[in-house]
Amino acid sequence: MNKRTILTGITTTGTPHLGNYVGAIKPAIQASHGDGVRSCYFLADYHALIKCRDPGVVHQSTLEIAATWLALGLDTDKALFYRQSDIPEISELTWLLTCITAKGLMNRAHAYKAAVQENVEKGEDSDLAIAMGLFSYPILMAADILMFNANEVPVGRDQVQHLEMARDIAQRFNHHFGEHFILPEAVIDDNVAVLPGTDGRKMSKSYNNSIPLWLPEKKLRKAIMKIVTNSREPGEPKQTDDSALFAIYSAFASTEQRDEMKQAFADGIAWGDAKQRCFELINSELTTSRLVYEDLLSEPAKIEIRLQEGAERAREIAGPLMQRLRHAVGIRPLV
Ligand code: TRP
Repeated sequence: MNKRTILTGITTTGTPHLGNYVGAIKPAIQASHGDGVRSCYFLADYHALIKCRDPGVVHQSTLEIAATWLALGLDTDKALFYRQSDIPEISELTWLLTCITAKGLMNRAHAYKAAVQENVEKGEDSDLAIAMGLFSYPILMAADILMFNANEVPVGRDQVQHLEMARDIAQRFNHHFGEHFILPEAVIDDNVAVLPGTDGRKMSKSYNNSIPLWLPEKKLRKAIMKIVTNSREPGEPKQTDDSALFAIYSAFASTEQRDEMKQAFADGIAWGDAKQRCFELINSELTTSRLVYEDLLSEPAKIEIRLQEGAERAREIAGPLMQRLRHAVGIRPLV
């Protein structure tokens, strides 16, 4: 039997934070060591262009995200790891899909609708500053997924609609041109922790409450010391269920360590001491990989080689499928 394919993309804007690590990167890397599936992870740099027009940021972010996944031990022999823009077949497929996608389907996309809504509320032209890239972005994402016939796509809840669109697009293509695509499914892992940020809301770059994954030790400690707590004094018992600090600690702790911390809260541990323990735990998990990360950042050529190897293997899959798709739509040699 063919292995199931799990695929996910990481948009290359910004630098990874602890929330990305706990919620997406760490589980994916663990999964990459398994033999039961074929996994594909890619740097979605074409997607980055939708949000970001600063070439330096896109480039630096691609470097940092690639270095992060490699430093944390992604098994690139088992998993396919590539940069979207290294696979020209993805752009080609995007056009074939664009030609069969209903405009009405794209009109319903949440991200596009939100942008329109914002314009309308401000009394502006509804299309102000909305690029076609934003509008047709779900088609590019469908191409990412369908190109590798992914069965499962681990994503956040905000991406579920895009998966439904990818299925819709795949179905239409299959209907017109034959059964070429598997219909992908979104996988949302509710067991994976949504990490709170330093202010207790979900950790997110846009809330300005995130702790970057690769802060040097001293800065990491400082950032953890800034996690918001309440005014309970040392010696006073503390609640765990409304504590961002406890949640962040727990995301890195073994069951045993978590229970101990719970007890310490009940016993009235001082916030400063609890934060120190939290820092030590997270720091010990990251210390070794941080060295690898820093080493990779200083030698991007090492990363580039791995990406090129990944692209070559990815194109061994994408190339032949694209050949068949071109043929299916009537783009064929004349003789
Ligand atoms: N749009 C996704 C995000 O913002 C990233 C992404 C691009 C993706 N292509 C993908 C995720 C394909 C899964 C599959 O998070």
